[in-house]
Amino acid sequence: MPAEVSIYEVGPRDGLQNEATILSADRKIEMIEGLVDAGVKRIEVTSFVNPRWIPALADHMEVATRIRRKPGVTYSALVPNLRGLDAASRAGMQEIAVFMAASQTHNRKNINKTTEEALATYREVVTEARSRGMTVRGYVSTVYGCPYEGEVPFEQVLRVGKSLLDMGCYELSLGDTIGVGTPRQVEYILDGLLHADIRLDQLAVHFHDTRGTALANITVALQLGIRTVDSAIGGLGGCPYAPGASGNVSTEDVVYMLHGMGCRTGIDLDRLVAISARLGGHLARELPSKYLKAHLGH
Ligand code: HMG
Ligand code: MG
Repeated sequence: MPAEVSIYEVGPRDGLQNEATILSADRKIEMIEGLVDAGVKRIEVTSFVNPRWIPALADHMEVATRIRRKPGVTYSALVPNLRGLDAASRAGMQEIAVFMAASQTHNRKNINKTTEEALATYREVVTEARSRGMTVRGYVSTVYGCPYEGEVPFEQVLRVGKSLLDMGCYELSLGDTIGVGTPRQVEYILDGLLHADIRLDQLAVHFHDTRGTALANITVALQLGIRTVDSAIGGLGGCPYAPGASGNVSTEDVVYMLHGMGCRTGIDLDRLVAISARLGGHLARELPSKYLKAHLGH
């Protein structure tokens, strides 16, 4: 196991984008600042997407401009097109993330584009972002399966992933959007990408825990050399355009497991779980995090 793992927190974005209760900008800012104070060093704060598609993040400009930024912390936001890039730029974002699926139908449903159209759009977005001095992360979703098409051929994952790296993304986050992946599949996919000249330090894993396989998948990914893990506080999350998707793997569950295995994250677990408990109250529901449930004695 590695001595250190980098947690990429997606709770304020992936976590909140599909919640029935929409948090106020004040609560979101408190959440983001709390997570950073607990030791999170990379955090996705919102999405500059069409608010009609994602109403829960319609306050993207307010959240991104009002958060108190700490030196040494990377704040990122999802961007689907040049209009989103412009807004992110005006909000002072230094990093953005572009996102698309390995499967055609999910691209149509999620960003209203074919795979080819999405790649063409992102070529422009990434070039423009980099010319403005921003760094760009790339998401490939439906890597382990698509809610509309079922199994996704590895060649499609490779093609989309390679294209995102070639256009200038510094890292690829491999999304198990609907939480169907198993450890053996993780091994197969990572092996395949590494054999195609993609480096370990260009890869991150992003699991949704729909079927309870996320921690096992993360363990295998770490054994294979992955050092960046996406997770969401409380196990919040899911894509509204991926039927059957449930929460991301919870940050406190991942941090608990990593610390137990002797891997440093720089994150204070007690502070994390306190934030998670408060969020459960704000969202008026029991959050899926196992560590939180144990902490609350449920
Ligand atoms: P569209 O309707 O095809 O866009 O949506 P359009 O270019 O035809 O424009 C239509 C309207 O949208 C126009 O407004 C534009 O100005 C506006 P109107 O003239 O009708 O009033 N518009 C925008 N407004 C604000 N910000 C923008 C923007 N762009 C256009 N950036 C679009 C295309 C991509 C915009 C839309 O489909 C969209 O916003 N999709 C986002 C969906 C989303 O965020 N899904 C969740 C992401 S989670 C995920 O993908 C998985 C991930 O978590 C990893 C994993 O789990 O695997 C990343
Ligand atoms: Mg996700």
